[in-house]
This record gives sequence, structure tokens and C-alpha cells, in this order.
Amino acid sequence: MAPGKFITLEGIEGAGKSTQLGLVRASLEHLGLSPVMTREPGGAPIAERLRRVLLDPACQGMAADAELLLMFAARAEHIAKTIRPALVRGDWVVCDRFTDATYAYQGGGRGLDPARIAILEAFVQGSLRPDLTLLFDLPVALGLERAGKRSRPDRFEAETASFFEGTRAAYLARARSEPGRIRVIDASAPLPVVSLAVAAEISAFGAAWRAPRP
Ligand code: TMP
Repeated sequence: MAPGKFITLEGIEGAGKSTQLGLVRASLEHLGLSPVMTREPGGAPIAERLRRVLLDPACQGMAADAELLLMFAARAEHIAKTIRPALVRGDWVVCDRFTDATYAYQGGGRGLDPARIAILEAFVQGSLRPDLTLLFDLPVALGLERAGKRSRPDRFEAETASFFEGTRAAYLARARSEPGRIRVIDASAPLPVVSLAVAAEISAFGAAWRAPRP
């Protein structure tokens, strides 16, 4: 059986990524697939417990290295219990955030050295990388304005604009270095325009996968 495909969605707060997840699922179902929908941090019972710690506003001031290691601890559990078994079964996996978020938030936001993140990435993931990543990009001020409507911000949502400027810049730098995998979608556009762009990306990726191999 052919291994499944691994699709991830990324973006700063307020990028509308969660809204688009349903559309990604519907587009894949339209291609006859039943994707496994999951998220990070989380996506498996113990990883969800680590998520609660990571997002808890009471954990304000957590050391950046501790945060980084907890992200990868949750990821190791998620890969072992959810992602890898699904891909081996031949299922497609759609994940709300993955390691690009670590480069963006812990690297660009907190200022950790990407080379250290790369070491953990290799240790935890081996060769596992997303096949396609949709990066929902928008100016930080607009993202924060949208996300600001939430009444109880989590530990990341409570971060400063300059943290998210660093996060956004790191995301965009990764997209420039891997333009084939990371597809940037203008999330500041009206919702129907964003949805059309998402559907087009998914159907192009699906069509390439279905095309007969030479
Ligand atoms: P969510 O709100 O999109 O579910 O994501 C939870 C938060 O976790 C979000 O603010 C981004 C953050 N995060 C990181 O800082 N590093 C990571 O590696 C991941 C996966 C998420």
C-alpha cells in the first residue's frame, strides 16, 4: 500500500487557519479521501495533556528551552500514536500546525537558534516531513485584531506584537526557502477568496498525486 500524504496548516494568530481546516477536509473528501484530522501541540491523549501545560497562562515565564522540548515531546507522542500509524495505513493526515510552527514561534518569536531546532527535528521525526504546507499569511496587526476578540487568551495569544512579527518573518523565510512545499495564502483577503485559494492548492496537490507516474 502507498503511504499516505501529510498536509499541514500554519499561520500566526488570527490567520483563519481553523476556519479553513474544514474546507481542506471537504476538498480531500471530494477527491475520495477520508483524511485524519489532527493538531499540534496535541493530537494524541498524552500530547493533549502537554498542550494544556504549554498553553496555560499560569505557565507564563516558562524557559524557552523547556517550551521547545515540551513541543517536541508532544510531537514525539503525536507521531508515534497518530501520525505515523495513519500514514503507514495509507491514510492522508491533515495537521493544524507542525514543526514549521516551532521554527516560527520558538525560533522567530522566542529567538532560539534554528540549528538547535533542526537537531530536535531530526531526532524526533527522522525523515518525516510534511508533503504540503499551507501558510496563511497576514499582517500582524490584522491577525491580532481578529484574535483579540477571544475573551481568555492562552499563553501564546497573550504575546506581544513584536513576538508575532518575528514569528511571521520566520514563517515567510521558510516559505521562501521551500516554495514547492510551503504555499503562501494571503489570509488578509476576504474569506471566499481565501477559501478559493485553499481549494485550488488542495486540488492541484491532489491532481499531481493522482497523475500516473512515469
Ligand atoms: P493553536 O492555537 O493554533 O491550536 O496553536 C497553539 C499555540 O501553540 C499557537 O499559539 C502556536 C503555538 N505553537 C508553538 O509555539 N510551537 C509549535 O511547535 C506549535 C505546534 C504550536
